[in-house]
Amino acid sequence: MAVSSCRIGRCGRSLRVGGIPARVAGWRRRIVSFRPCRKENGPASPRPDAHGAHAGHGQDTGRKHRMTDSQALLQARFGIGLPGVEVPDAISALIDRRVTRRYTDQDVPDPLLDALLAAAQSAPAKSDLQQYSVIVLRDRARIKRIADWIGTMDWIATAPVFLVWCGDMRRGQRLCALHDMPHANNNLDTFLNTAVDCTLAMGQFMAAADAIGLGTCPISYVRSHIERVSPLLGLPDGVYPVAGLTVGWPVFRRPVSMRLPPRVVVHREHYDDSALADAITDYDERRRAREPVAPGSLKNTDVYPPREGVGWSENVARQLSVPERFGFAAYLKTKGFDLA
Ligand SMILES: Cc1cc2nc3c(=O)[nH]c(=O)nc-3n(C[C@H](O)[C@H](O)[C@H](O)COP(=O)(O)O)c2cc1C
Repeated sequence: MAVSSCRIGRCGRSLRVGGIPARVAGWRRRIVSFRPCRKENGPASPRPDAHGAHAGHGQDTGRKHRMTDSQALLQARFGIGLPGVEVPDAISALIDRRVTRRYTDQDVPDPLLDALLAAAQSAPAKSDLQQYSVIVLRDRARIKRIADWIGTMDWIATAPVFLVWCGDMRRGQRLCALHDMPHANNNLDTFLNTAVDCTLAMGQFMAAADAIGLGTCPISYVRSHIERVSPLLGLPDGVYPVAGLTVGWPVFRRPVSMRLPPRVVVHREHYDDSALADAITDYDERRRAREPVAPGSLKNTDVYPPREGVGWSENVARQLSVPERFGFAAYLKTKGFDLA
């Protein structure tokens, strides 16, 4: 049984969780002393805590948030410094996060999984309607079946837990029926709300998992095989998969993936993308220098012949220029969604 301090909120409360391998129980402390991960694809290992294990909420204690090495953290994430930005310890792990695409044999105990699912259910939900469901798969053979259908992601079958996060209009329809009222919101807005509720919960699950050293990776490809995944999970009308999520103990931590500079994504007071082209040229160059697109990651090479030196933005264009899952709306209609 490991005792893990609440890492997300940095509060003084402790959460008693069983089944956390000792080698990852110490990960919670990395929030206090961030060091950029230099060991690309190296083994996952706890990082020593140079400053002690805990920093309290500034609000509660009157003490200030501890600051991580903000510029090192931001440099790792964006490939550029963000002068003047100070990252409190409490959010440094969110900036340092990354997906995990290979898992050890170690199980994720039910009490721990249930705690993570409770964290997920604590996410905000539109009008408190809570219009999503999650299917928990632990049966290795069923997880492997999904991995085999996808075909290109064999590591999915290494995960001891596979979650399928679903938008759920059905529960609201049943609640209306229970109260002898019509359900008058089978429309595009409800579809969007179900997807948003679902995704917020999945995101909160991922943050909670990361907080105790578990790795996760969302899998949109469950939607590429929806006609098989949906009956496998017994999804009724009004329920559709948004994404799968692999969950397990990481064999290694991937390098941090470089993000677009904030000035491209964050607009102040009004939308302005007039400087996009130049910013993207710079971003492509930074990414090419650190993490060039691997030949195996080039998109749609049957349409656009492979070539050397493809940057991030060209690869995005290669992907977005070919329709993906264009049968999704038709599938949703077979599941009772009007989308009007
Ligand atoms: C909705 C969603 C679906 C995703 N689907 C897949 C997937 O099917 N397979 C996969 O390997 N990664 C998938 N990912 C993970 C992304 O590829 C990953 O987040 C991205 O490459 C950035 O890496 P990072 O999360 O480590 O920063 C998905 C992520 C999201 C948010």
